[in-house]
Amino acid sequence: MSKPLPESLLSLIRTEVRSQHPYIVPGARPVPVKLNQNESPFDIPSELKKELLDSFLNVQFNRYPAEQPSQLMAALESNLGVEHGSVLVGNGSNELTYTLGMCFIHSGDPVVVPRPMFALYESMINLHGGQPIGIAPKADLQFDVEGILSAIKTHQPPLVIITTPNNPTGLAMQFDDVKRIVEAAPGFVVVDEAYHEFNPGESAVGLISTHPNVIVLRTLSKAFGLAGLRLGYMVAQPALITEMMKSRLPFMVDRLSEHVALSLLSNDQLIADQIEIILSNTRSLTAELQSRLALDVLPSQTNFVLFKADRDPVQFLNDLADRGTLVRNMGGYPELKGYLRVTSGTEAENQAFLNALDSVLLS
Ligand SMILES: Cc1ncc(COP(=O)(O)O)c(C=O)c1O
Repeated sequence: MSKPLPESLLSLIRTEVRSQHPYIVPGARPVPVKLNQNESPFDIPSELKKELLDSFLNVQFNRYPAEQPSQLMAALESNLGVEHGSVLVGNGSNELTYTLGMCFIHSGDPVVVPRPMFALYESMINLHGGQPIGIAPKADLQFDVEGILSAIKTHQPPLVIITTPNNPTGLAMQFDDVKRIVEAAPGFVVVDEAYHEFNPGESAVGLISTHPNVIVLRTLSKAFGLAGLRLGYMVAQPALITEMMKSRLPFMVDRLSEHVALSLLSNDQLIADQIEIILSNTRSLTAELQSRLALDVLPSQTNFVLFKADRDPVQFLNDLADRGTLVRNMGGYPELKGYLRVTSGTEAENQAFLNALDSVLLS
């Protein structure tokens, strides 16, 4: 047994840190059908994976990668059609949220965030001493854009964060509304587009050249299926990226991740085909859920579906897991009491989930 950590030492830890909880995916347990983290159901085709790993044999593990993954940055810039220096790559977009906190949040600063929102943001704001100003959604869980605009007017926040399409609702904000928020905000507006590839249409990336306060966050964890390798990126005007670089740790992106991402970016048909399948599966899954009258189902603009049943969600989740399918309980968000979220998997995975669901609903 180790000697207990005395309060005299614990009290030296920043209050903002001690008052937080470690990020843990609740309810996770090993089951055959994993639909709880909005991942892509597609791993890289094994031929391509083998080819990539074989070519990686020549890379020296004892050498540092570049301070920043410059080849990947250039490839992303060319894909997005933005000028050189507009992209910063991180160890997943989660990691980049800390860069936002480090750069933009002074102690006590209000940060406007629509609710319910990907929980990591609120914790990041608190950790950096900011004050989250949460804006409740409308009754149908759509963004309350007028409420967001009014909070911006009242609080004059240095930072506004929007996620569109939103996790955990699966609903997107109209592009015109994103633009209104960008134009009303006195400070920076972060638009997290983690699920953009599932909701093609105008992106906030198109606003960057005319609106220098816009920062877009994207990830390769969803449509690109690289959640296990950890790659996310920010897009903003080069002068702002240069400033944010000053707060970055070097070597955050390893050689293997960069190598794999470069290959996938040059293999755009493979990803486009997978997105098409995921979208079609999500449409079918939504329709199947909506046909079950016992459920209240949101229309999804992402690769997951939020739904509610008139029963205890924790028990519901456990009953589904007992039948081999893992989904996520969203009841931790005050606005989402009773809701579960299911990621759209392969056709077979979705069918296995629906079978488990029917079995639970009948029990
Ligand atoms: C809105 C949103 N942003 C960011 C992320 C995390 O992305 P990454 O895997 O790049 O850290 C997620 C993951 O679920 C998400 O839902």
